[in-house]
Amino acid sequence: MKNSKKESRYIRLFEQLMELCTKQGTPLSRMATIAAVLHHKMEHFFWTGFYLLEEGDLCVGPYQGPVACQVLEKSKGVCWEAVERDSAVIVPDVSHFPGHISCDPRSKSEITLPVKDKKGSIMAVLDIDAKEVEMFDEVDEKMLKQIVSLVYNEPRGRWINEPRGRWINEPMG
Ligand code: SME
Repeated sequence: MKNSKKESRYIRLFEQLMELCTKQGTPLSRMATIAAVLHHKMEHFFWTGFYLLEEGDLCVGPYQGPVACQVLEKSKGVCWEAVERDSAVIVPDVSHFPGHISCDPRSKSEITLPVKDKKGSIMAVLDIDAKEVEMFDEVDEKMLKQIVSLVYNEPRGRWINEPRGRWINEPMG
């Protein structure tokens, strides 16, 4: 998918997810909604889900796709790397990532991003796998970062749709 097409697809999904996630729900139900929407609207997403950081372990949370590892070995793999670096991790080819945890041998490329609460503490990791190499880049990182911000954030204002399809946070009067 061309990057411009991918970005506009993500913008539409963000708008849809904002409708679904900002009016109601808990962080867990929002994660479930985000995983379902992303997985079914992005054809190349093979595994889409969250690992929850609970008592120092990354345990699988809401997801879509084949059965995944329940608990990830500490300080190993792409999800822990996102926690330790406190940033997104893009892996173009998992066979070149030392310590990659393979829950399904069909996964070939991957992106992970930390999910933070309002105080900035990492609460979970969004993990997306594809069956082809080099399926994720900086557009995925930028747009998925916005999407995961919906898990814990309550908008203070009203979101309005600009003519060019961007959303801005309009402060309440
Ligand atoms: N590959 C991940 C493990 C989770 S699965 O991809 C669903 C990792 O290395 O942390």
